Amino acid sequence: MKKQTILTGIRPTGHLHLGHYFGAGKNWIKLQDKFDTYIEIADVQALTDNFNNPDKVRKSVKELVIDLLSIGIDPNKATIFIQSTIPEIAELTVFYSNLVTIARLERNPTVKNEIKQKKELFGQSGESITYGFLGYPVSQAADITAFKGNLVPVGEDQLPLIEQCREIVHKFNSIYGNTLITPEPYLSEIPRIKGLDGNEKMGKSLGNAIFLADEPDVVRKKIMSAVTDPNKIKVDDKANPDVCMVYYYHKLIGNPNLKTVCEECKAGKRGCVACKKELVNKMLEFLKPIAEKRKYYENNLQIVENILKEGNNKAKKVAQETIKEVKTSMKINYFD
Ligand code: TRP
Repeated sequence: MKKQTILTGIRPTGHLHLGHYFGAGKNWIKLQDKFDTYIEIADVQALTDNFNNPDKVRKSVKELVIDLLSIGIDPNKATIFIQSTIPEIAELTVFYSNLVTIARLERNPTVKNEIKQKKELFGQSGESITYGFLGYPVSQAADITAFKGNLVPVGEDQLPLIEQCREIVHKFNSIYGNTLITPEPYLSEIPRIKGLDGNEKMGKSLGNAIFLADEPDVVRKKIMSAVTDPNKIKVDDKANPDVCMVYYYHKLIGNPNLKTVCEECKAGKRGCVACKKELVNKMLEFLKPIAEKRKYYENNLQIVENILKEGNNKAKKVAQETIKEVKTSMKINYFD
């Protein structure tokens, strides 16, 4: 039986952090064994937000691919490719744009939220929201359907985008005949990772993230300033590990000593500084194999480039098949 296809995408706007790893990457590593896996480096989508910063997007593409390879994405199992090398995605986006109203896009909760954040962060007025930005869910529907994705592993914040894609697929199929596959979201067990500052989300732009590529000194500094139980003042005060970010990370990276950490913390037998130092050591141990693999790929960029070229070629074949079917259904296959 043919394996099901999973398609997921990630915007190249910086390095991966622990939130990406535990919230998504770790899950992809498992999925690549079971499914025909496509991982899209969504450079065109990144440009919707960063059209005035092409250097950042360009630089991030390779960094991101190296991050993915370093955590264990296996190019023999998963196809890693760059969105802009597949113009069929852009073609599909144009065709699908007839099937979505502007009002529907404006009501998309993810888009709505992002517009709100943009206004808060940059004081942008509604007028500066571009056509490309508002339409990125349509382009994302093209990403998913071009590769005949059955399942889309994403975090919770992306669910409205999958829903939007499903609506486009239904509309397309009902007008032009059954052509596209309807995707399902595939949520990972831990959808959202908290930041070092206790924020509900670890985020690139929030300044509360540990990046997989952080140097040991940076990791140390970040952990030493992580938020602990605010009610613990003295070293021997009893504390509540459940509100402590240091405990949260001990747990997240699977410290085998976790039970002791918890019991000592509750009993007032563990100072926060010592506890943070232990976490630094465990975190560096956790990051070490990733850092070693990164070194290897950084010293062998030709290998990375070849992986991408092969990925692009393989992805292109599937997208070409899809566009052919789509054009036939839409009766714009003039010379077949
Ligand atoms: N929008 C996703 C994000 O910001 C990235 C993405 C692009 C994606 N294309 C995709 C996710 C296709 C899933 C499927 O994280």
